[in-house]
Formats: sequence, C-alpha cells, structure tokens
Amino acid sequence: MPIPDSFLSDLRDRADVESLISSYVTLKRRGKTLTGLCPFHSEKTPSFTVYPDSNSFYCFGCGAGGDVITFVRRVENLDYVEAVKSLAQRYGLNMPEDGYDDTLSKKRGRLMAANREAAGFFHHTLMSEHGKPALDYLLGRGLSMATVKRFGLGYAPNDWSGLLEHMRQKGYSQSELLEANLVRKSSKSERETYYDNFRNRVMVPIIDPRGNVIAFGGRVLDDSKPKYINTSDTLIYKKSQGVFALNFAKNDIKDGRLILAEGYMDVIALHQAGFLNAVAGLGTALTREQTRLLSRYADEVVLAYDSDEAGQAAAQKAIGLFGEIGVKVRVLKFEGGKDPDEIIRKYGAERFQRLIDGAANDTEYKLLNERGKYDLTTDDGKVSFMRAAIAVLASLDSAVERDIYASRLSDEVSVGKDAILIQVNELRSKRRKQQERERSRFTAKSLPGFGEGLNPEKKRNLRAAAAEEKLLSNLLNNPGFYPKLADKVKAENFVTELNRRIYEVLEKRLSENRGVELEFLSGSFSPEEMGAVNKLLVSGSAFGKAASQGLANQGSLEECIDCINIMFKEKLKKEKVSPSEMSDEEFLRRIRDKNLL
Ligand code: GTP
Ligand code: MN
Repeated sequence: MPIPDSFLSDLRDRADVESLISSYVTLKRRGKTLTGLCPFHSEKTPSFTVYPDSNSFYCFGCGAGGDVITFVRRVENLDYVEAVKSLAQRYGLNMPEDGYDDTLSKKRGRLMAANREAAGFFHHTLMSEHGKPALDYLLGRGLSMATVKRFGLGYAPNDWSGLLEHMRQKGYSQSELLEANLVRKSSKSERETYYDNFRNRVMVPIIDPRGNVIAFGGRVLDDSKPKYINTSDTLIYKKSQGVFALNFAKNDIKDGRLILAEGYMDVIALHQAGFLNAVAGLGTALTREQTRLLSRYADEVVLAYDSDEAGQAAAQKAIGLFGEIGVKVRVLKFEGGKDPDEIIRKYGAERFQRLIDGAANDTEYKLLNERGKYDLTTDDGKVSFMRAAIAVLASLDSAVERDIYASRLSDEVSVGKDAILIQVNELRSKRRKQQERERSRFTAKSLPGFGEGLNPEKKRNLRAAAAEEKLLSNLLNNPGFYPKLADKVKAENFVTELNRRIYEVLEKRLSENRGVELEFLSGSFSPEEMGAVNKLLVSGSAFGKAASQGLANQGSLEECIDCINIMFKEKLKKEKVSPSEMSDEEFLRRIRDKNLL
C-alpha cells in the first residue's frame, strides 16, 4: 500500500526544501532560487539549484533532482520508505499506520539487529575465558579496558560455527546471516554448509553516525595474512561510504576539525590518547563519498596517514579530493614511527598534539613535496621547481594567500615576487579559459538527446521525445489542462519508455483528481528518474527558463495539442506506416481513435 496523499501533503508543507538542503549544502540566494555546490558530484562552480516554489532541487551539472524525499534518499542513501520516515521524524510528523511496502526497510532493520547481536556475542566472547588470548593481545598493544569497552571490541572464536550457532539460537536464518556477511557458504560438498566469516580475530564493530552496527573489521592476533578481514558490501554497508568512529567523533569536533587516519587501530589509539575527533576510512582508498560525508561535519581535516610511501601517496590523493569540495587540509609527517598508533605509544599524546599544531597546511605540504623532487643548487632544478610551485600557487583561490606564498617563494629562489605573481596569474587565466571551454562543451552535451542514460530511446527519437517532454512538462506545471487532453493522449503513443512511464503515473493521478506535486510522484520512481521528472517540471516553469537554455515556455493547451500531433505522427513513422500508405479507412480510424479530428 502506498503512503497516503494526506500524509505526503503534510510532509510537503512541513519539510521545506530550503531548510532541509541548507543543513547539507551552503546555499546562496539568487532571486527566486538558491544555488550551491552539488552534493552528488564534484564541482567548483555551483550548478545545484534549489526551487522553494516547487519544493524541489535540480543540478544542471549531473541531473540529480527531485523533491525532499528524493534528496534524503540520495544524500543519506536510504530507500523510499526509510527516507519518508526520516523526514517525518525530522519534521515531527506521525507516520501513518503501517501497511505500505517496507520489505526492504524491514530487511535492513533485521541485518542491523543481526550485526548488533553479533557485536554483543563477540564482545562477550572477548571477556570470557575463550577470549583471553585476544584480550591479552589488545592490552599488550596498550589499550585500556575502558577503551575496549568504549569501542565494543570483541573476539571471534577459533571455531567454524561459534557465531553461527549463537545467531541461529537467536532466531536469525542462515540466509540472513549470509546476507549480513557474518557467515559464508561453502559449496564444496554435496550439501551446502555455512561457516563463520570471522574466526580467531579481534573484532572491531563499525558503527554508523546514527549508532547502528553496520559491519566489522577483524584483525588476526599475529603476523599471519590477511591481516584484516572486513565485512564486504551488504544491504546496510557500503565500504566506499563508510567512515570508522564518526559516530563518536561527530560529537567531539573541535574548531571544525577532524583527524583522518588510515587504520582502525590508529583511531582507537588516538581516542584513548584524548583525540576524540579521529576517524578512519575503511581500508580502501579515500572516496568522494567519504570526503563529502566528512565535509558535512568538518571544515578542516588533519591527515594522519602512515609515513610509508603508500601512506604519503594516499595523502596526496586525499588533498586533491578535499580540495575539490573546499575542505581545508593539513598533513602530519611522522618520524620515528610509521603511524599514529606507534607515535603515541612511543612518544605520548603531547608529541602528537605538537605535530598537529605544527602541521603543514596543504599548500605548504605540496610545495614541500615539489621541493623534494628537484636539486635547487642547479639552475635547471630551480626552474623546474619554480614551474611546479607556480602551478601550486595558481590553484589558490585567495589573492592574499597567493601573495604570501609568492613572497616566500621569491626569497627561496631569489626571483622577484612580481615576476612570480605575473606567471601565476597567466596560468590562472589559462586555466579559467580551459574550464569555460569544458563547461560549454558540457552544456552542449546536456542538450536533449545526449547523455540520456535514463531514457536511451531518446537519441533515436529526438522529435518524439521532445514533444513528449513538452507535453509532460505542461501537465506537471498545469495539471488543469488534463481534463481537456485526457481523451487525446494515450500512453501507448509515447515512443520512449521513461516518458511513457511518467505519463502513466500522471494519468492515473490526474484522472482521479489528485495532485502531481513531486512528493506524490517520488514513490513511483528511482532517485535518478526523479531528476528527469524535476527537469521536466523546472524546464516548463517561469524561473527555470533562463537556466534551461531557452527550451522552456509557460505552456498552453495549443502547445499540448501540437505535441500530441507530433507524437502521433512520429509513432506512425516508427511503425513504418506512412499515412499516405495507409488505407483511408485505417487512417480515419486511427485519427478518430486519437480524437484529433
Ligand atoms: P595494525 O597493524 O593492527 O596497527 O593495523 P593498522 O590499523 O595500523 O592497519 P594498517 O595501517 O596496516 O592498514 C590500514 C587499514 O587498512 C586497516 O585498518 C584496514 O582497514 C585495512 N587493511 C589492512 N590490512 C588489510 C588486509 O589485509 N585486508 C583488508 N581487507 N584490509 C586491510
Ligand atoms: Mn598500525
């Protein structure tokens, strides 16, 4: 059963798009709309637009768009019902009685409960007789009992079915456990057998910012390989999106700053040493999803990556990713130890704090790195270093900063500051031009017919698709047209599948005299499809006009009839029967069917 209109109406009234999106994106007002940097793709100039009038958003860069529910689905990675629930909670609305389709949401709830139960089992085992070797290992690494408890650390017994049996007793099925990646299935023998995924490992539960246990990392107690086994992606866990310890750190962010380390054990050691704002990625290279998530909590990230080559390469990459979204970065360099855990154990927390205080910011770090590559005692080396340094300075958006670093560089290479700044500015204007060229190429691509992965038939049926879209846009903006058009339009006259589906949803609602605001539609489409739906809505509205390259218009009944005629002709063409080849009878019948006479 779908969620009732009355509830969605209340939600539309309460959950205003501007307040919702403002808590994720910095928005600037521009007349009737607001703009900001898109949270769904990386960009430096804002193409993400919020429309308070239609309570919707649309990104002209990546095509993400829709209503508040779609926004929450995408940004929080929730399914439809979960997103509605989360909005209801946020805006103080009571969800209507159950009965709608929330199978997926229930399943996710079961997996989370299973993970929580497993975390309890692992922790209990660690504290039991069986867990002694693991507890000794942890204490031997300098962790206190308080830390072990705070992080809910555990031990997976050296046994093929310790967890499995416990979970079966608690009522979880083998397939649920398999889906949670807590057990594995072997098909070696005739019979399928299930066995524990984690065996004889120290277990680190991974907890999301809402407090749900969503995955585990399991470390061996010695030097054997693989050192870690981590939960693979499940219905409730995507490792490319996860951040370890953000559930703790989000409450202890100081001066807008987070510390980002590489490993679980680093974060645990940092917290024990009083650095409560430390987090880590989950054993993969840092992703854009992770940097975006972190940027919601922090303005500055201190990178505490391992001192080895891999760690430093990862730091370089992280600087780039954070730079794209305007998060400041500072980089720690360790000497006398390879990672934060070692540094703290060897030299104590104060030493680590001093490292943070003296950490190079990202520009200094980049310059330092470039300097290391060249021999500055030779002219060649100096010139090459200058060239690299100028490229670093050119990417600074603040003129003050450019000036400061140009001064320093001038002292270092004995070249006049003005000469350096001239070169920096030349490079900046060159880059700007290139960016503009790219942007105009991109805009050309986003004209109808190109890059339409959602509606692949469009490029082969440009004329039909354009007519379909104009018609749909008219109906979305002027639902009052529907009664006058109802007997002229037929879903089967739509050539492209996506547009046909949009029409079917509109037709059903309009024929029952129900609203077609986006909140009523988003339960019928994927978040990606909602982008296309909102593009139709904004392209036909007055304020969408400028932004959509003049393809928009306010719409009229006449225009709708034109579109219907075009669609009809295109449909005939597609069926390879030209009206002239048709018998008079057939032609008349078809025309009469469509009520076009
Ligand atoms: P310790 O050696 O216990 O101090 O571990 P660490 O936390 O310092 O980890 P390390 O720097 O070796 O690796 C960083 C992170 O990469 C770990 O926390 C894991 O998330 C991940 N990782 C390390 N080794 C493996 C592995 O063998 N397999 C997988 N899947 N991930 C690993
Ligand atoms: Mn380590």
